[in-house]
Amino acid sequence: MAQEALVIGASGMLAEVARWLAKEGWQVTVVGRDRRKLEQVRDGALRPEAVHLLPLDYGQTETLRTAMAKLVESRGPMNLVVAWIHQTSPDALATVLAELSRSPWPFRLYHVCGSRAWKNPPVVHVPATCSYHRIILGFVCEGDEARWLTNAEIADGVIRAIGDNAAQAIVGQVEPWEKRPAY
Ligand SMILES: NC(=O)c1ccc[n+]([C@@H]2O[C@H](COP(=O)([O-])OP(=O)(O)OC[C@H]3O[C@@H](n4cnc5c(N)ncnc54)[C@H](OP(=O)(O)O)[C@@H]3O)[C@@H](O)[C@H]2O)c1
Repeated sequence: MAQEALVIGASGMLAEVARWLAKEGWQVTVVGRDRRKLEQVRDGALRPEAVHLLPLDYGQTETLRTAMAKLVESRGPMNLVVAWIHQTSPDALATVLAELSRSPWPFRLYHVCGSRAWKNPPVVHVPATCSYHRIILGFVCEGDEARWLTNAEIADGVIRAIGDNAAQAIVGQVEPWEKRPAY
């Protein structure tokens, strides 16, 4: 049976992660609001037939809950979740985890977090069937200057973290903290 992956926030900096998963043989469901952007993720993949679009607003809790239930019904249990979810939707991750954990199958979650997670790690109630992995997006110091990560650096770092399977991975750097760029 094919391995199933769910990528939430898949049409931005995680687009290459979704395409890489498809290349590696996963069936990949990609979530974002804008269908057209999700189509571009699929159409740029080496195996577009392995990329399945799920346009929705994860801020709409009931919509998200129903979509997750239907997803498991139609594709079977998810084996891997990569989630980049804005803090403006604080219930979204819990909703996803609650629905996916209705199945007894174990799954891995790679929770992609902004740099603030280094100082204030988000509290996530992880179901027993879920193996939780945090990925913190840091910054890059170049001489006296510091900058945020590019999409390519983020995607590479997330792909490496999935391969390493470590409990926590940092993309770029988070220290010295005081060098963190201003927004
Ligand atoms: N530490 C760092 O260096 C760092 C950290 C974070 C971000 N960044 C940079 O900042 C840029 C912008 O960040 P970003 O947060 O906008 O990330 P992004 O990954 O570029 O875009 C957000 C993704 O989430 C989806 N999304 C947003 N709200 C959603 C909702 N309510 N429901 C469903 N899907 C939703 C978007 O699709 P739709 O718009 O279609 O919904 C898109 O796929 C990134 O591209 C990255 O380069 C850097």
